[in-house]
Order: sequence, then C-alpha cells, then structure tokens
Amino acid sequence: MSFVHAHRGVRIAGCGSSLPERRLTNADLEKMMDTSDEWIVKRTGISERRVFDRDHGPSTAKLGEQALREALADADLAPTDLDLLVVATMTADMPTPGVGPTVAAALECGNVGAMDINAACSGFVFSLNVAHEMTRSGRYQNVGVIGVDTITRFVDYSTYGRGAAILFGDAASAFIIRADADERLGLIAETMHTDGHGAKHLFIPTCAEQFYEDEYDDRKVGRVQMNGQAVFKFAVKKFPEVIEQTLEKAGLAAEDVDHYVCHQANARILEAARDRFGLAPERLTVNIDRYGNTVAASCPLVFDELKQAGRVEPGQKVMFIAFGAGLTWGASLWQL
Ligand code: COA
Repeated sequence: MSFVHAHRGVRIAGCGSSLPERRLTNADLEKMMDTSDEWIVKRTGISERRVFDRDHGPSTAKLGEQALREALADADLAPTDLDLLVVATMTADMPTPGVGPTVAAALECGNVGAMDINAACSGFVFSLNVAHEMTRSGRYQNVGVIGVDTITRFVDYSTYGRGAAILFGDAASAFIIRADADERLGLIAETMHTDGHGAKHLFIPTCAEQFYEDEYDDRKVGRVQMNGQAVFKFAVKKFPEVIEQTLEKAGLAAEDVDHYVCHQANARILEAARDRFGLAPERLTVNIDRYGNTVAASCPLVFDELKQAGRVEPGQKVMFIAFGAGLTWGASLWQL
C-alpha cells in the first residue's frame, strides 16, 4: 500500500505521569493490619505508596487523562494530533467502555482509535511493543500509550489480606511515540511471553467457581490473590532470562544498555537482577520505596522520573522490562 513506509524510525517524543495525592505509609498500614514498617521495608523496599479514594477518585480514566495531558505537553502536541491511543490497564473503571475511549473523549482527541490492553504488570511493555509496530509500519504518526491502574480497589487492607496489601499503589504514566525520519530510532528488539498455567499464583476472582483447588473463601472474592513465594521465584527466574533473551536478539551485551527500566515489584528482585548483570545502581533505577507496585504504570513512571532528572539523552539505549499476572513477562529495547 502506498501510505506504508516500512523503513522509518520511531521515537519517544514525550512522557508524563499522574499520581493520586493520598499517601499510604507503612505507619498507616501498621494501624490497619498486623504488620510493621521494618517487615515491609526488609522484604519489599517499599516505604509508602499513593492510593486513590474509592469515593472521590481519581478514577483510572481520570489518572490516565492527566498523565496523557502531561505527555502531550511534553511532546508539544495537541490532543487532536493523536491518531491512536493504547491504554494498558487491568483496572478499567467499568467492564465497558474501556479507559481508552473515555480518556480520548475527555481530552477531545476526536474519533481517534482507542483501546485497552490487559496484560497486568506487563501491560505497558506489551502496549509499547504493539504501538511501536503500528507506528513503524507507517500507518500511524502520533500514538499515545498510557499505563494506568488503580489496583488498590482490589486490595484487602486487613491482616487477612496483608500479604498483597503492602505491595500495591495507584498511578498513571504515559508516553507519546512518534514516527521519525531517522530510521535508527525505535525498537531494537522485543520479547513477549505468557504462561496461563501460572494464573493461579496471581489473580482476582469474581465468583466461587474461579478458585483453584479448595481455596474458596468469601473474603477473597474481588481481592488480589497472590502466592507471594511462587511469584517471587517466577520473577527472579524470568527477569534475567528476558533481559538475556532481548540482548541476544539485539546482538548487544548488558553494558551496552544505558538504562534498565524495570517493573517495580520488589526491591530484592531488582537488586538480584543488578547483581546478576553487574550493573551500577544508576543503570537500574529503583523508585518502589515511594510508589510500591503500580502495575501497568510502573515502568513509564520510572522512565518519566529519569527524564525529569535529565538522565535520558538522545543516543542512549533503554530496555523496559516487566512481569506480572497471567503470567506475563516481556521486554522492549529502544534506541533513543
Ligand atoms: N506483615 C507482616 N508479616 C507478614 C506480612 C505482612 N504484610 N505478610 C506475610 N507475613 C508473614 C506471613 O504470614 C508469614 O508468617 P509465618 O512464617 O508465621 O507463616 C511470614 O510473614 C513469611 O511470609 P511469606 O509469604 O513467606 O513472606 P515472603 O518472604 O515470601 O515475602 C512477599 C512476601 C509478598 C513480600 C514476597 O513473597 C514477594 O515480594 N513476592 C513477589 C510478589 C510480587 O512481586 N507480586 C507482584 C508481581 S507483578
């Protein structure tokens, strides 16, 4: 087709984030359940997280809208310049409509194509890979990619639910990706995997039939169910594996990548990956202490902070890596 330009570059033209104002500290959690700041920091590295208010929001769509607004301003583009919007989320405010159309309408993007992708904590990385290909192909010029979740709506803040409750926070973060005349820019390599057999280790049941084995308990319905140790083992194994696989596809060595922008699930998992590849701390940024695990918003939030701090420069290589429920895991390696 004449409008397809197979060989062209793609760049990350802007980014922006949005966080709920309310802070939930470890000290707050100590008052809500049998836990301690010491236990949480030692096992996870988390000190506080942001949480939306169940009655007053901001909703998933509102957070996503604010992040996209910031990203558009950063890219110096108007909402009507977007020709595609991809939203990574597993916590849409309603089963339908999706967050994509709601955000597009709120920003008056016109009748832009807008959709949600649910790949849990891997959602942003998967969405970025998909959006990149739509842009590289020449079919789309300016694509918004949002990672947003208000996962705390599915958290049980009692001693009964404490295993998962301490981990999660709410956030949104967005990228604008644009077609660019410089062919060298964009994805160098990507990796996406799932294993539905591992779904039982991390899921949110909505009725009794969805429980595995004899695990049913009324208190668990509509709440995050997590086998922490199984997920930990999965992450510690897959994290370095997916980095190696992606480096191999790109023909690069670990030290060739300037930033490893990783899903923030547990500081210990991140530190293990750093040690494994012998990376200096500044190459693999950890911000989980302030935000906890923000699901699909996690990776872009790290990148946005790096960019705001002036640590992202043209010519660098950046690898985004995530894993999560599904089970899902993947990476996206970019030439900036
Ligand atoms: N506060 C205090 N004690 C807690 C607790 C909490 N919030 N949560 C669990 N405990 C207790 C348990 O009841 C258990 O007590 P017991 O020994 O008397 O039975 C003990 O601490 C150890 O529990 P365990 O679940 O084995 O802890 P852990 O070392 O595996 O740490 C996680 C728990 C959740 C921090 C850890 O497993 C983890 O990070 N897993 C990965 C989760 C993840 O990344 N999920 C998102 C993927 S995208």
